[in-house]
Amino acid sequence: MLHKISVIGAGNVGATLVQRLAEAELSKHVAVVDILEGIPQGKALDILESSPIYGYDTRVVGSNTYDIISDSDIVVVTAGIARKPGMSRDDLLATNAKIVTDVCNNIKKFAPNALVIVVSNPLDVMCHVALQACGFPSNRVFGMAGVLDSARYKTFIAEALDVSVEDVQGFVLGGHGDTMVPLPRYTTVAGIPLSDFLDAATIDKIVDRARNGGAEIVGYLKTGSAFYAPSASVLEMIESIAKDKKKILPCAVYLTGQYGIKDLYVGVPVKLGKNGIEQVVELKLSEAELQELRKSANAVQELVDSLKALVPA
Ligand code: NAI
Ligand code: 2OP
Repeated sequence: MLHKISVIGAGNVGATLVQRLAEAELSKHVAVVDILEGIPQGKALDILESSPIYGYDTRVVGSNTYDIISDSDIVVVTAGIARKPGMSRDDLLATNAKIVTDVCNNIKKFAPNALVIVVSNPLDVMCHVALQACGFPSNRVFGMAGVLDSARYKTFIAEALDVSVEDVQGFVLGGHGDTMVPLPRYTTVAGIPLSDFLDAATIDKIVDRARNGGAEIVGYLKTGSAFYAPSASVLEMIESIAKDKKKILPCAVYLTGQYGIKDLYVGVPVKLGKNGIEQVVELKLSEAELQELRKSANAVQELVDSLKALVPA
């Protein structure tokens, strides 16, 4: 069991994640920090008081100061503003860059040995901001998006076929945006290729719905964005790290030439274990798939460049 997992941001994603972490007992301590007075304290206490009912012994605390994250094994960054209808993830760029920089300066100070999982949007660019502010090696700074995008993709496939979600295996690669790259060729249902079950037009519709999965939820909620599936996705990543399961999961990672992409955070499959990113898995993509991945990487690069123009280093 880990010693401590900390969550920065006690909003929808952060607080739901704290609840999931407490229930999963992956660490003895869970700490949550937010700038809003009383909110992290109140939510942490409420979750702690559920423990006799659920039977978990996780110690949950909340604070407006960072001293409580000291000795964290993992820190998850969910601080920032979320999307409202009509906003893209990219509209959050400048505001969230400032917030993530502030948060990561504190992580560097109070939890210098932690693995950092970034959730704040626009995700891939916020990973760059976090890497720069923390100054940690890139195997310790990575982002959650691919697990969520893949979960949406797999949900829609299971629904279309009326089969168990457990039978559906598949990946979504690329940046966490409209150019993300679901990979039907690598998707199977109980080991059988997806194309044996569904025609190309139906697969295209599912791919399209997965690409717009975040916006679909924002359209319903109106006041914010998804948080149940996002927090469940972070939990899957943390479980793989905490138990050193070495699951292959799509995460936003700093590529150093893999897939022909260099010095950029993009979602690709990685082996996730106790050391964070332990291996980048290089799939043998077709030329068309590679083009799509590079197009998605270019969209991330454009956003990184526009942030540099907004906030020169
Ligand atoms: P939320 O608005 O419910 O919570 C954000 C929290 O961050 C608020 O409680 C706010 O007070 C706090 N915060 C703001 N500035 C802070 C600072 N400097 N230090 C500490 N805390 C601070 O938003 P929600 O729904 O929890 O989403 C959080 C972020 O995660 C958003 O940027 C959202 O777009 C992103 N997101 C990313 C996903 C992904 O797949 N990567 C999925 C879902 C959300
Ligand atoms: C999502 O995909 C908003 O990025 C968030 O739901």
